[in-house]
Amino acid sequence: MAKQRILSGVQPTGNLHLGNYLGAIRNWVEVQENYDNFFCVVDLHAITVPHDPKILAKDTYTIAALYLACGIDLNNSTIFVQSHISAHSELTWLLNCITPLNWLEKMIQFKEKALKQGENVSVGLLDYPVLMAADILLYDADKVPVGDDQKQHLELTRDIAVRINDKFGKKKEPILKLPEALIRKEGARIMSLTDGTKKMSKSDPSELSRISLLDSPDVINKKIKKCKTDPLKGLEFDNPERPECHNLLTLYSLLSGKNKEEVKAECSEMGWGQFKPLLTETTIEALKPIQEKYQEIMDNQGYLNGVLKEGKEKAEAVANNTLSRVKKAMGYLTLN
Ligand code: AMP
Ligand code: TRP
Repeated sequence: MAKQRILSGVQPTGNLHLGNYLGAIRNWVEVQENYDNFFCVVDLHAITVPHDPKILAKDTYTIAALYLACGIDLNNSTIFVQSHISAHSELTWLLNCITPLNWLEKMIQFKEKALKQGENVSVGLLDYPVLMAADILLYDADKVPVGDDQKQHLELTRDIAVRINDKFGKKKEPILKLPEALIRKEGARIMSLTDGTKKMSKSDPSELSRISLLDSPDVINKKIKKCKTDPLKGLEFDNPERPECHNLLTLYSLLSGKNKEEVKAECSEMGWGQFKPLLTETTIEALKPIQEKYQEIMDNQGYLNGVLKEGKEKAEAVANNTLSRVKKAMGYLTLN
């Protein structure tokens, strides 16, 4: 039987943090052998908020290299850049014209990001989830591994696909496949180091709020030293009064590979003075192989270009096929 297909992506806006890694990419790596995978650097999404043209290309390379450094294996995965495949923009337009405006106005991420932008909210920011739907639907993806914050966008993607199928498809021959979100419980929502009630985010103005995958040991040490804790004795998971404590133990569990029970047994009697150095050491060790591999790849731009060119070809063939199917169903003229 053919393998099911996975599609996911990350925006090239700066470097990746532990939330992106533990919430998304680590899960891609873990299940990749069982699927036919497409991993995209979503650079069209990156301009939905004001961006700096001087660093967009560099950030795109960084994310592609980090995918490889985190363990994406080209034997079962295709890595490509969203803007290299025009079908993403074209399908977005077709989907735009059947998506009700009020579906987009309800998106939580839009509302949050729009608030941050003040007067300067682009049409692109509102349309962001439709572009994401196009990314997914073009590849007939069965599963989309993402962090918890993307759940609503996945529901919207399904709603859009249903609408296209209902309006233009035949009952037994749907045009678009309905994808499912693949959200792991552990790590789906890694919180900020400076506020355990806010998610770790690239857009938080404070660097101290997140650990980036490329942070040096000194920087990691400093961030964990300064991270928010509480004055209570002992360490515990799942106490709503202690969000920072839960988050730091979760980080330790995921980065050390020890399960919750093991972490409880090891850490419940500890104080912060003992736990913080342990978490620091574990984080540095977990990121070391990723950082080494990343450097190797970035030192070999020829190789990385080759990966992205090959990725473009493979992805384009699949995407163009789906786009033609949708255009045909919508009644567009084709010249043979
Ligand atoms: P972004 O940085 O917005 O492009 O997100 C890329 C991926 O990382 C998506 O699958 C997100 O759901 C996931 N992600 C982002 N922030 C977090 C977080 N704090 N915890 C867990 N997953 C996250
Ligand atoms: N919106 C996603 C995020 O910020 C990124 C993304 C764009 C994506 N297109 C996608 C994720 C397609 C999964 C599938 O996290």
